[in-house]
Amino acid sequence: MKAATAAGTLIKERIDGKFSIEKKSGPNDLVTEVDKASEALIMNIIREDFPDHFILSEEIGEVKMDSAYKWIIDPIDGTVNFANGIPLCCVSIGIEKEGKMIMGAVYNPMMNEFFFAEKNAGAFLNDKSIHVSEQKEVLHSCLVTGFPYTYLDMENGPLDIFARLIRKGIPVRRLGSAAIDLCWVAAGRFDGFYEHKLNAWDSAAGFLLVEEAGGKVTDFKGDLYSPYQPHIVATNGLIHEELLRWISNTHQ
Ligand code: IPD
Ligand code: CA
Ligand code: CA
Repeated sequence: MKAATAAGTLIKERIDGKFSIEKKSGPNDLVTEVDKASEALIMNIIREDFPDHFILSEEIGEVKMDSAYKWIIDPIDGTVNFANGIPLCCVSIGIEKEGKMIMGAVYNPMMNEFFFAEKNAGAFLNDKSIHVSEQKEVLHSCLVTGFPYTYLDMENGPLDIFARLIRKGIPVRRLGSAAIDLCWVAAGRFDGFYEHKLNAWDSAAGFLLVEEAGGKVTDFKGDLYSPYQPHIVATNGLIHEELLRWISNTHQ
């Protein structure tokens, strides 16, 4: 919480200022100097108390340690939003113990929203307990997704699934931050979220938030979710099986 608060404060201070921007895999896959500064700040805070823990962080990669604990960090989730001054971005920090997520913090300082979850202890937004929605049907759901930079046109890929849902008039939002998408499912604002190509740092913390808020998170086949594979479906639990069928195009 200390690291997420410090990094969130930094990104809020810098969002309207000037910062350098580099391109990664493609013209819109960005990293700013603030992503790197946020990452350094988080890592220094973790190391003060836990110098021997394993760290996996988006910009620096793996800092391997022989430890039961692994910190999974996204120093800014929603970098394209951040680079455009759009206040939908956050810091995401998850902690895994022996391969299982035990804690997650997602802080969107622009909206003053701090999401926190601990395994078997619930999910919270600014210290208030949160719970997933009670919606039972995909047709009446408000969904959210995100789009990768590649593979958009593959059969039954991101565009096919998106078209299938919006052709039926189902609202499918696209916020640009997977960690916020997940937290908003946890808070009951969205009934479900799916995406094709996430990395562990995008989903590690938000995944626990959804589970602790009473929701369900799987891959596209409905198997137990692992942040180390790309597909995610996160819902209130009640629409889960039906949304999986919409995604695999077997819903009729
Ligand atoms: C991105 C965001 C976005 C998702 C992308 C991610 P970044 O993370 O979470 O919502 O659609 O797949 O890469 O690059 O802003 O940290
Ligand atoms: Ca991310
Ligand atoms: Ca990032």
